[in-house]
Amino acid sequence: MSSIQTEIERRRTFAIISHPDAGKTTITEKFLWYGGVVREAGHVKAKSNKKFAMSDWMKIEQQRGISVTSSAISFPFRDCHINLLDTPGHQDFCEDTFRALTAVDSALVMIDSTKGVEAQTIKLMNVCRMRNTPIIIFMNKLDLDGRDAIELMDEVEKVLGIKPVPMSLPIGNGKLFQGVYSLIDNTVHFFNRDEAKQSIAKVSGLDDPKLDEWFEAKYLAELRERAELVQGAMESFDRDRYLKGEIGPLYFGSAIRNFGVKQLLDSIVEIAPSPVARLADERLVQATEPNFTGFVFKIQANTDPKHRDRIAYIRICSGKFERGNKALHCKTGKPVRLAAPTQFMANNKTVIDVAYAGDIFGVHDPGTFAIGDTLSESESLRFQGIPDFAPEHFVKVWLTDPMKSKQMTQGLRQLSEEGATQLFYPLSSPAPILGVVGELQFDVIKFRLEEEYLAKCRFEPVNVAVVRWITGTAKEIEKFKEEHSQDVARDKRDGLAYLCPNAFRLATVQKNYPNLQFLEVSERYGAN
Ligand code: G4P
Repeated sequence: MSSIQTEIERRRTFAIISHPDAGKTTITEKFLWYGGVVREAGHVKAKSNKKFAMSDWMKIEQQRGISVTSSAISFPFRDCHINLLDTPGHQDFCEDTFRALTAVDSALVMIDSTKGVEAQTIKLMNVCRMRNTPIIIFMNKLDLDGRDAIELMDEVEKVLGIKPVPMSLPIGNGKLFQGVYSLIDNTVHFFNRDEAKQSIAKVSGLDDPKLDEWFEAKYLAELRERAELVQGAMESFDRDRYLKGEIGPLYFGSAIRNFGVKQLLDSIVEIAPSPVARLADERLVQATEPNFTGFVFKIQANTDPKHRDRIAYIRICSGKFERGNKALHCKTGKPVRLAAPTQFMANNKTVIDVAYAGDIFGVHDPGTFAIGDTLSESESLRFQGIPDFAPEHFVKVWLTDPMKSKQMTQGLRQLSEEGATQLFYPLSSPAPILGVVGELQFDVIKFRLEEEYLAKCRFEPVNVAVVRWITGTAKEIEKFKEEHSQDVARDKRDGLAYLCPNAFRLATVQKNYPNLQFLEVSERYGAN
């Protein structure tokens, strides 16, 4: 095997998805500790001491205590190179998470065992299902009085629509949590709140008499009953089916007590896929092809307020990338030099010399890139695009200080290129309209316009409920524009959008203009 192939095969690129508070930050910190990236395995986001997780690095995130942008973190574990994409759990930032999920090969779903499957997890899981992303499930907070293990697994199957395959089963629960029994290798992992006192022992099977010495009869009876039920009714682990996204191996543990976390990481190394082939319009691109290809999945401006900068995050789809290499920017057909490829450990940047398929790196972006752009060493390709989701909330933006008009225009343009908001310029009014999927995004935009661009703005409610992108013949479009000039706007790529006050009106308009198409999703890369 060539050294490029070996490097690619040891990559694991995944994201953690969960509902807020399920423990994603906590487990990320433990992973980083196992990777030797942080010295302390402590939960550094503890509100009590006002410290924050390294992945929660934007000022706004610190103020609100939620993850707003996705950052990528790399660390070594065993003989693997792991790329972990952090994703905002808050529902108002789901667009960012959707995009991050296009850049990973698998996902870890964290579920709070005291609550079961929650709303945001369902939404994100739907995206994973659309892409058949392989899923590993971690049932967290077993140290708390949680819900019954079997009931939780049932809920995963019914609500998340994926067949869970328990790799371990809990012994006891909550305050009486004793540990887990691994159904894969017949080991018992003894729980202790004190991490140093946790231990693992091998047994011959569920009827090994050693278990009777270690645990009270009631716990054992429950464990054996659960095991019987599971073995009778549930799927057994089959890696091919996991890779197709049909079954989800499931582990029980406690992130904060570092219980079951190493076993989870072991499992990611052992079963999660190395970089998978990616579909471009032209052909399927194998990760192990020697030529570099990749796509931009995220753009972020002003990561460092001291230096005005803009970073494009690229997921490498195939081959090897070397610092300073030129690549073809497929959309424009022009070569671009990717001068200082950077990997991120929260806000610590390291310039890298080489990177391989599966890796994520950032490059300084002078305004060349847009989300979804393909980069390629030689051949012109177009990886499948990342959709713009139809926004659900809208406001009109008025500048409060007319001297800052340039700053506001620049800020809005950059924030929309980052995907933080969608921007519409009505044909009939000078004030731009912002559209977002989650309302909290407005607060972030307002904050960032003021903080980063020094443009104080006022947001005014606007009577828009749905947006549809319009396509059709020039003549029909002209007619439509004349008749609906009050509700028609240009988006940032000059695409024509109908900003419609209500669904009823939309239905009428669709009936009146049968030759026009009213599209719910605008594919980012398609226009221009
Ligand atoms: P998130 O990133 O998914 O939003 O969750 P995060 O890790 O911030 O965890 C949410 C809360 O759940 C935190 O408590 C965290 O300490 C707690 N937690 C995480 N894993 C476990 C676990 O295995 N067992 C128990 N008992 N708690 C866990 P918090 O009080 O909200 O915040 P903090 O003051 O601890 O930061």
